[in-house]
Amino acid sequence: MILGVPKEVKDHESRVGITPAGVKALVEAGHTVLVEQNAGALSAMPDEEYEAAGAKIVATADAVWRAEMVVKVKEPVESEYKHFREGLVLFTYLHLAPLTDLTNALLKKKVIGIAYETVRDRAGALPLLTPMSEVAGRLSVQVGAEYLTKEHGGRGLLLGGVPGVPPGNVCIIGGGVVGTNAAKMALGLGAKVTLVDLNLNRLRELDDIFNGRVFTLASNSYNIERAAREADLLIGGVLIPGAAAPKIVTKTMVSKMKKGAVIVDVAIDQGGCIETAHPTTHSNPSYIVDGVVHYCVTNMPAAVPNTSTLALTNATFPYVMKLAKVGAKSAIKDDNGIAEGVNTYDGVLTYEAVAAAQKREWKPVAELA
Ligand SMILES: NC(=O)c1ccc[n+]([C@@H]2O[C@H](COP(=O)([O-])OP(=O)(O)OC[C@H]3O[C@@H](n4cnc5c(N)ncnc54)[C@H](O)[C@@H]3O)[C@@H](O)[C@H]2O)c1
Repeated sequence: MILGVPKEVKDHESRVGITPAGVKALVEAGHTVLVEQNAGALSAMPDEEYEAAGAKIVATADAVWRAEMVVKVKEPVESEYKHFREGLVLFTYLHLAPLTDLTNALLKKKVIGIAYETVRDRAGALPLLTPMSEVAGRLSVQVGAEYLTKEHGGRGLLLGGVPGVPPGNVCIIGGGVVGTNAAKMALGLGAKVTLVDLNLNRLRELDDIFNGRVFTLASNSYNIERAAREADLLIGGVLIPGAAAPKIVTKTMVSKMKKGAVIVDVAIDQGGCIETAHPTTHSNPSYIVDGVVHYCVTNMPAAVPNTSTLALTNATFPYVMKLAKVGAKSAIKDDNGIAEGVNTYDGVLTYEAVAAAQKREWKPVAELA
């Protein structure tokens, strides 16, 4: 198969769809990989490494998109729609629900659009979302520790304390992938960590995983208000799949927090779980409400593109290899997890949640493939 790896054009996107290691494995398996010039540069993966791995470096996006399958990171932006054509296989994050124009363009040109965010593994989990939550969870503590310094408007606190001075309090709301990874980092820095979740079985698991070193707390507004008041760093990591995040830390709770405390609302990409949070960007990441520093960047992994690209492609690559080996149509027939990833097929919308969000017709891909 001929695969194409374009340079991402979406604002601030610095990841890339296939690494030099992926190229090497694909080329060894007999495939051809076209990589657009500088596609990996922002992830610290220069053209020379791709070339050494066997890629053909091409100068233009046009040349890359002529491939049979294009592997990207972000959903195509409008300037990329012109590359769509019948039968093209596009494997990337698509997030189609709010993107009617992109959906129309994929359907009109009969592109086979396979979305990372809806591919499922055998356990029914979403394996291509997990790595980015791992990155954002771990980064949330690193960023929070930085914003607690005086220079960044924080209360001038070292999370780990020092002998004779107690550590800081980190309160993490949501004990899923983001929350667990944040807890690991915060414990590593020596902070006192409280994990809040609605799911008592999850709290039991967390108590076991951390061997009692984190405090677990059932999620209700009484507990959250008290935990927020004591927190030096408050991290939001709740998710209700398919829904906007609930605002579980209210404006009043924020007004009672310590001055110079820091909020990192990782759930901001789903609207945020903290009432005073609004989306920010890497160029202007923080603002202050009631003396509390807020960091609410919607695409945190883009701050660490080298790690994020490696983490993402570790998860996506086995699927890329399978799609290349047997072809998209056979892979969709053979593998229910890949079939779940198909959002558009031969001019038909094939993902129910996207159809519901856009109020339009859909058909399961099994009826078409
Ligand atoms: N900002 C970014 O760059 C970025 C990157 C990756 C993920 N995210 C977002 O982070 C959020 C968390 O992702 P995840 O992968 O950890 O999800 P997850 O499903 O693994 O975990 C979510 C947890 O929230 C808990 N929860 C739900 N309602 C709750 C409530 N009312 N109180 C307390 N806990 C509650 C659930 O029980 C679950 O344990 C998502 O919104 C995700 O989109 C953001």
